[in-house]
Amino acid sequence: MQARPPAIFRRLEELEAKRAQLAAAGQVDPFSVQFDRPLSATEALWQGRPVILFGSNNYLGLSFDATCQEAACLAVRQEGTGTTGSRMANGSFASHRALEEQLAACFGFPYCTMFSAGYLANLGVIATLASDVVVLDAESHASIYDGARLSGADIVPFRHNDPDDLDRRLRRLGARAYGAPVVIEGLYSMMGDTAPIAEIVAVKERHGALLVVDEAHSFGVLGARGCGKAEADGVLDRVDMVVGTFSKSLAGVGGFATGPHPQWAALRLASRPYIFTASPSPATVAATQQALAIITSDRGAALRERLGGHARRLHAGLRDMDWRLGAEPGPVVAVVLEDAQRTLHLWHALLERGYYVNMMIPPASPRGLSLLRLSLSAAHGDEQIDGLLAAFDALRQT
Ligand SMILES: Cc1ncc(COP(=O)(O)O)c(C=O)c1O
Repeated sequence: MQARPPAIFRRLEELEAKRAQLAAAGQVDPFSVQFDRPLSATEALWQGRPVILFGSNNYLGLSFDATCQEAACLAVRQEGTGTTGSRMANGSFASHRALEEQLAACFGFPYCTMFSAGYLANLGVIATLASDVVVLDAESHASIYDGARLSGADIVPFRHNDPDDLDRRLRRLGARAYGAPVVIEGLYSMMGDTAPIAEIVAVKERHGALLVVDEAHSFGVLGARGCGKAEADGVLDRVDMVVGTFSKSLAGVGGFATGPHPQWAALRLASRPYIFTASPSPATVAATQQALAIITSDRGAALRERLGGHARRLHAGLRDMDWRLGAEPGPVVAVVLEDAQRTLHLWHALLERGYYVNMMIPPASPRGLSLLRLSLSAAHGDEQIDGLLAAFDALRQT
């Protein structure tokens, strides 16, 4: 008798069958788009045609900044292509330390640890901080959930952006709430809404919990210095830890954790996602140092201003056409649609017209919604935004 194939084979075959179905229908799979290559911060070549990118996280457009590119090239020549080791072994250079100090200074905190990805920063921070229980906003990013799982602690989600529900959950935990990490995001990347951080800070202080804010999408974008939503809300000094990534406004790859408590300095000694992986490459570190210098300079403030103007332009244009939008104007504008089929149709139609956007449908989307996620970059031109608006206008009845 032939043995049944292992369950994992069947699961993977089902996934492959779904992909093949789309391909057979002559449709591009929205989750497997492959660009020939990027052309600029806002354009890429796709199947030989230029498309305008409204689905990246290149909020300040720094991926093609000439000074960041130059810094990366110089670092490759001087320090090589990779570190070939962990920060705990041969993979720590003066430039890694310098970037950590630059990040800590940006926040005004005494401590910062760099990770090799934003994903790893969340794994490292949450798995190390959580022992008994960890409390999460229900719409947290997968890396936050994965960090919580890795910790082995009990996971208590609270209703998205709801400080009263957080208060109830912490009250129910009683003494267990004291010192428990509460993890939120500054700006939620799918709907584009932001956290009511001041209210959440007040709640966590009442219970003696520790607030971790993932500013992945708000770093570089919000706050006078670009530190994110906690800075913008004037409560940065009351947050216990900020986690961030190099992969969005900083236009590199890597992550970081920074905070006000001197005890955090030893986090790197206890964090497996920090220890058991190679450190960021010299090119990444150098480009990120330069991007960070821009973000904290007058030029950074001007880029944030420009991004804000773009957000208002796109938001107002779509609202005037009666598209249903997920949140107030911001660098992420979510267009909420009636079902997954129409969302898929519009996604294809936009790509046909030369606009790449992100598509989110259940089960990957928040609250079972089907949406097109549009993201802006300071590098966009007004004419690119107007072009996207014209495409949405043309597609209203389709
Ligand atoms: C909120 C949030 N945290 C963390 C990450 C992980 O960052 P990275 O892509 O740098 O690993 C992401 C990535 O999309 C994110 O959206």
